[in-house]
Amino acid sequence: MNILLTGGAGYIGSHTYIALAEAGHTPVILDNFSSSHSAVLDRLLQISGKQVICEDGDICDRSFVEDVIKRYQVSAVIHFAAFKSVGESVSNPLAYYHNNLGGLISLLEAMDATKCRTLVYSSSATVYGDPVSVPITEDFPRMHTNPYGHTKLVGEDMLAALRVANPDWCIGVLRYFNPVGAHPSGLIGEDPNGVPSNLMPYVTQVAVGKRAHLNVFGNNYPTPDGTGIRDYIHVVDLAEGHVAALRVLQERGESFTVNLGTGKGYSVLDVVRATEQVSGQLVPIRMAHRRPGDVAECWSDPSSAQKILGWCAKKSLNDMCADAWRWQQHNPNGYSSC
Ligand code: WQD
Repeated sequence: MNILLTGGAGYIGSHTYIALAEAGHTPVILDNFSSSHSAVLDRLLQISGKQVICEDGDICDRSFVEDVIKRYQVSAVIHFAAFKSVGESVSNPLAYYHNNLGGLISLLEAMDATKCRTLVYSSSATVYGDPVSVPITEDFPRMHTNPYGHTKLVGEDMLAALRVANPDWCIGVLRYFNPVGAHPSGLIGEDPNGVPSNLMPYVTQVAVGKRAHLNVFGNNYPTPDGTGIRDYIHVVDLAEGHVAALRVLQERGESFTVNLGTGKGYSVLDVVRATEQVSGQLVPIRMAHRRPGDVAECWSDPSSAQKILGWCAKKSLNDMCADAWRWQQHNPNGYSSC
């Protein structure tokens, strides 16, 4: 099937591109490269061995999106295109509401106009805010603690309203926990702009010598070693979750919302130690104050995804750190050195 990947040149989009191609689909990338690099297209060609179809344009341009869906006879859409920095969303909320919600509305109108009504939506564990307990199941209360998380939560509500209005819509909502790692080839991976706000890319940049040390944001949380605990999931496992979601939507025609996580929580210090072990490099750390908005623990109960999708994450924390390290070693400056 021809599958449209909005934001398909990004970190999770590019890994999902490979998983879809390996499953026999024809992925079509739609990306404006505002937060991704066109060099990734050549890497996707190297990995897949097939010419990459990519349309350079903005998700907010509805007529452009409609034209792409028609021209490629798109059967379903996986929607990645969104801004995703929590900090940036606090300082520039209108850009986030415009791009993430305006872009979603534009996509849905284009899909409706072309009767392409099968969608996989990239949501986030951020919709759970500060969870009342862990592990988190899909029926937990949703709340938002920043404009980025608010756009994900409102996006989910918009999709729910759409399904009530027109049951022809088949929608899979995937709540990602913490995607990390890279394709084992080391050709594609996470390429943050400037100073990484996320833990894993920062740790690998310290390991490769690009940064002097890691600031550990808080070591007095109520956790075994005092540092924050998260549900890190290998981006290749996450990509396979999208292929499984697509298959279920096509086969059953029923909508669903599932957590995509491993069901295991690892602390900041666990990640540092695992990276040191797989890389053979030291990762110096400095204890620092807590980061505003951070929660102590956030990890999933992934059993619904297992039951509905027949999917579960297979890769270990060491796999995640080893693949992240290989990408970092081969690409010390990400794609920008291409
Ligand atoms: C993980 C842990 C930090 C950096 C992420 C994304 C956000 C959203 C939700 C997509 C925490 C600690 C981090 C550092 C540190 N993703 N840390 N030093 O906070 O769970 O949020 O998931 O929807 O975009 O940010 O992940 O990687 O930022 O932090 O000590 O330099 O690492 O305090 O405990 P988080 P993270």
